[in-house]
Amino acid sequence: MQDLSPSGVVKPEVRGLTAYTLKHFEADVKLDQNENPHELPADLKRAVVERVLSRPWGRYPEFVPTAVIKTLAKFTGWKEEGILVGNGSNELIQAVLSVTLGPGRRIAVPQPTFTLYKLMATTLQSEVVEVFLNPENMTFDLDGLIQAARTSDVLVICNPNNPTGTLMQTDAVVTLLKNARGLVLLDEAYHEFSEQSARPLLEKHRNLVVLRTFSKAMAMAGLRFGYMMADPDIAREVYKAKLPYNVNIFTLAAAEIVVERRAVLSEAITSLIRERDRVTGELQKRPAVKVFPSKTNFVLIKAGKPARELFDALYAQGVLVRDVSAYPLLDRCLRVSIGLLEENDRFLKALDRALEKK
Ligand SMILES: Cc1ncc(COP(=O)(O)O)c(C=O)c1O
Repeated sequence: MQDLSPSGVVKPEVRGLTAYTLKHFEADVKLDQNENPHELPADLKRAVVERVLSRPWGRYPEFVPTAVIKTLAKFTGWKEEGILVGNGSNELIQAVLSVTLGPGRRIAVPQPTFTLYKLMATTLQSEVVEVFLNPENMTFDLDGLIQAARTSDVLVICNPNNPTGTLMQTDAVVTLLKNARGLVLLDEAYHEFSEQSARPLLEKHRNLVVLRTFSKAMAMAGLRFGYMMADPDIAREVYKAKLPYNVNIFTLAAAEIVVERRAVLSEAITSLIRERDRVTGELQKRPAVKVFPSKTNFVLIKAGKPARELFDALYAQGVLVRDVSAYPLLDRCLRVSIGLLEENDRFLKALDRALEKK
């Protein structure tokens, strides 16, 4: 008889994995998920609700959500046929990898980085080549990435990188595009905070795929929306692995309206960049912690104490951050999202108290 236990039915690669999950903590100051602390204005939310009220909820969305794709094409200047939308950019990471990876295929991944790439690739039974960042300053190892890209079907770069905040400059991205044997998947989840994008490179490099999310700068994490830009020939293939009707009518309406009125977000983004630089400067004054330069809406810090101890001491004071010490190279490290000015001050004060504690 067939063995119906997990060891009998689930692929060994999957059984060996730890699920991507996050324990839920309540806290006054929530700095653990790189969300935008500035809520969208109430009148914008009302406009979304009005638009959705005028649509039938009992009917499926359009098979291809043309209106939002047209809006994104106008916003980015990229071709409509080269744009796909997803229920969060995570879904598009999965779609891209599922059409490119499988047994006998290989992906190159810098480490440490966003955990989902390796998790998905392993689920798909692909070989994962890890290229470690420079542990001193968390910069990318360009030579190592070039070597790995020459023999991989996909190279993924989170730019700027989560959880280190590191930015790869455009000339290095171009070098990788020229050397890569396969696709270069550039995850630009935090690009608004780096003021740099690979979007202009799409014109010249057919092996480039750019991913964006509305969960960070665009303040829509709760609604789940992301999009992909690529050569239309590539987009057509990825489309085959995307689930039908993957984005609901509520999210489609919100994404359209947020792009149309994106000026409302400019001030929030500018203030998060300003706060990131202020918090970095403040942390640099504290000899007990090392702070890595960041081009995102979070900072990575390394302390003399075990990360769990510091995490607990901050949490006891109502400040929730992310313990990233289990990532490769990140022993004693915490990732702290940039919040509102008052929240960042509370974090700094709580950190000082936590560091004083014996
Ligand atoms: C690098 C990176 N990519 C993608 C995502 C997921 O984005 P989404 O909420 O659009 O699925 C995150 C979220 O933390 C991220 O850090």
